[in-house]
Amino acid sequence: MSKKQSKGIEVYLRIRPSKKSYPGLILDKEGNEVQFNFPKDGQKSGNQNAKDDVYNFVFNGVLDQMTQQETVIESCFEGYNGTIFAYGQTGSGKTYTITGGAERYNDRGIIPRTISYIFNEISKRNTSSYKLNVSYLEIYNDSGYDLLDENHATKSLFDLPKVKIYELSEDQYVLKNLSVHRAENEEDALNLLFIGDTNRVVSETPKNDASTRSHCIFMIQLECQKNGEDVKTVSKLHLVDLSGSERPSQTGIDGKTLEEAKNINLSLHYLAQVIECLNEKARGNHVTHIPYRNSMMTQILRDSLGGNCKTKMIATMISRNEQVDPGVIISRLKKEVQELKAEIALLKGEDVKENLTSEDIERCNKMVQEFIDSSDPSSTIVLADRLMINQCFYHFKHIFRDMQKKKGGAGPAGFSSAPEKTSGGGPVKDDSMEVKKSQEEIQRLQILVQQRDNEIGILLNYLNKKKGDETIPGIGVQRQEESKGGQTLFQMMQNSNQDSNKKNLEVVQGGVNDNPIQKRQNQQDREMYEVQQMTNGHIHLTNEDLADRSKAFDLFRRSYRKNEAMDENRELLKQKYSRGKELGNMVNESRDQIKVLTNKIEQIRKENAMRGQVDSNGEIIQTPEELNMQQKISILKKSYQDQYQELKELKSEIERITNLLERSRQQMQNDFEKWLSVMLKQNQMANTSSINSGGINSTLNTSTGGGFNPASTDKKVNENLEAFYRARNEIYK
Ligand SMILES: Nc1ncnc2c1ncn2[C@@H]1O[C@H](COP(=O)(O)OP(=O)(O)OP(=O)(O)O)[C@@H](O)[C@H]1O
Ligand SMILES: [Mg+2]
Repeated sequence: MSKKQSKGIEVYLRIRPSKKSYPGLILDKEGNEVQFNFPKDGQKSGNQNAKDDVYNFVFNGVLDQMTQQETVIESCFEGYNGTIFAYGQTGSGKTYTITGGAERYNDRGIIPRTISYIFNEISKRNTSSYKLNVSYLEIYNDSGYDLLDENHATKSLFDLPKVKIYELSEDQYVLKNLSVHRAENEEDALNLLFIGDTNRVVSETPKNDASTRSHCIFMIQLECQKNGEDVKTVSKLHLVDLSGSERPSQTGIDGKTLEEAKNINLSLHYLAQVIECLNEKARGNHVTHIPYRNSMMTQILRDSLGGNCKTKMIATMISRNEQVDPGVIISRLKKEVQELKAEIALLKGEDVKENLTSEDIERCNKMVQEFIDSSDPSSTIVLADRLMINQCFYHFKHIFRDMQKKKGGAGPAGFSSAPEKTSGGGPVKDDSMEVKKSQEEIQRLQILVQQRDNEIGILLNYLNKKKGDETIPGIGVQRQEESKGGQTLFQMMQNSNQDSNKKNLEVVQGGVNDNPIQKRQNQQDREMYEVQQMTNGHIHLTNEDLADRSKAFDLFRRSYRKNEAMDENRELLKQKYSRGKELGNMVNESRDQIKVLTNKIEQIRKENAMRGQVDSNGEIIQTPEELNMQQKISILKKSYQDQYQELKELKSEIERITNLLERSRQQMQNDFEKWLSVMLKQNQMANTSSINSGGINSTLNTSTGGGFNPASTDKKVNENLEAFYRARNEIYK
């Protein structure tokens, strides 16, 4: 966008929230202006005189990071005839703006809100009758697919009917194979949206794991006929979720995804061309030809972009100060792995280091001193290294000797230089219990090490791919060091792959992408990455947990990322229910009061008639009391109608939130199955490797009898799951 505002198409800028916003981005919401300040190269090299590069852009509206979904609708929805589309980089919030967030009811986007708005309007207008039709089209690599085809609802995109476009004349076209569905009410329309969304292609890109790789057009056709007239008017509304405008060099994508990216960028380019021509025309400049025919998207939108149509674009962007650096995450994870290994070594009675460094010794001495000086009875010294523990004891001894010397030989009261023996009358510790406990702890820590190692593996892979398979300085060195101190799971996985693929390895001559080991590794990494994204990472699983599906489910559920959104929806549902109850009472009360007042009026009228209080026409004279009551009735009637309307809307909202919760529940169940199978696979691999290397405790082996038996636990888990949902439903009631 240039600084000049476009006349033809209104453009709104929406900025997606991010934790670290770019400080050089300045928003002027009043003036609808955005300013970008980029430091000049000279500044980076320390030249203080170099000024920022400053760019200003003016929009029809600027919606900042705090903007809620409702405000967006208010800003961009005024008429039924036209197009609203979202344009922006991958992950900048186009789908969020157009369709909405998948989890929270409050995050509903433009489509569901537009549907509600239209039906609400229809219910208010009784001078015309309306019919609403819906179609949902997906354009992938410049081919169209009908997302609402009933026979193919659950199959892949390529099984859906291919939509063809036939031009009838310069201005007219028909879409063959695109089904049109009548929506009698809001529920019908929302259901169609749901079916279509389920069919949308969601393919993974490195930047956005739920990225939509195609353009989607939700088409609403509103037919209006005035009462008593034959003429019908038909208006169309196209709500368009465009694909991400991404640069392949930035995303590190390859193969099929690169082809997709090229197609996406090309079709966006054609769209931009059309919009530019229309803008020129709107400014009064002479334009001979508008290049609609270049892409399917522009062909379809031709009657909703030009002419008298209202077109609004929401440009989405994310303002990030810095990308999350995988290198930083790796070093954090490595530190964690080192600490966990040290803890394991301590439990096993092994030394991690051969000698302490002078810094270690100093640290130990300082800790001892702080411990002695502390007046807090709960203070402790926590160490994971036997040598460091020894050093602490040496330092204690040293301090004690010093004190003895200063006091002339006598030690402090209660101190004895000979160690106490617990066997002479004191409680005798159960060694086997202690051993079992520490074995369990070792097992738990080993699984944690494995998980962290896997995360490191995934990130390394990602970094390697990004850097074109260059070895990353520092990381390579560190990995060699790791291999000295026993195999990590990442290495185990690679080694076991290498063993089983030794033959393949000998034959493989091609590049990295053709390498089956690499492919398998990538597949495992992807699976692992995918399941790790499902949880917040705070799951400490033992083998027993994995073997017990219901326990595993419980742990998974507690750290399931989407649980927060589900909780929010539950809370919202509770609020709606309680408002519903309140409204129900209010409606009943209003009705009762109206009844009482009408009875009273009847009574008064009867009495007046009996008293003969009639006017010259023989009509009963209305007393001031009666008039007063009639006024009260009309006020009550109004509030009764309002309350009843709200109750009706509330009921359909409750139904929608309940459906959303049910969908989230099913999603959670599916995610759990996926997560569990990856965890079991990972565990099995770790066992195999550890048995080969004589490492991990043999109880980790699932094939030794004490391990996980899916068949025997399935029933129990299903029972537990059912019980869980039953209890939950009870709460909702
Ligand atoms: N305004 C917002 N508030 C909160 N979360 C948002 C907002 N916009 C986007 N998000 C979140 O950011 C993520 C990416 O958004 P979204 O999928 O809408 O991007 P997109 O632009 O459609 O990407 P793509 O081009 O790859 O389809 C999603 O998890 C979404 O929920
Ligand atoms: Mg999207």
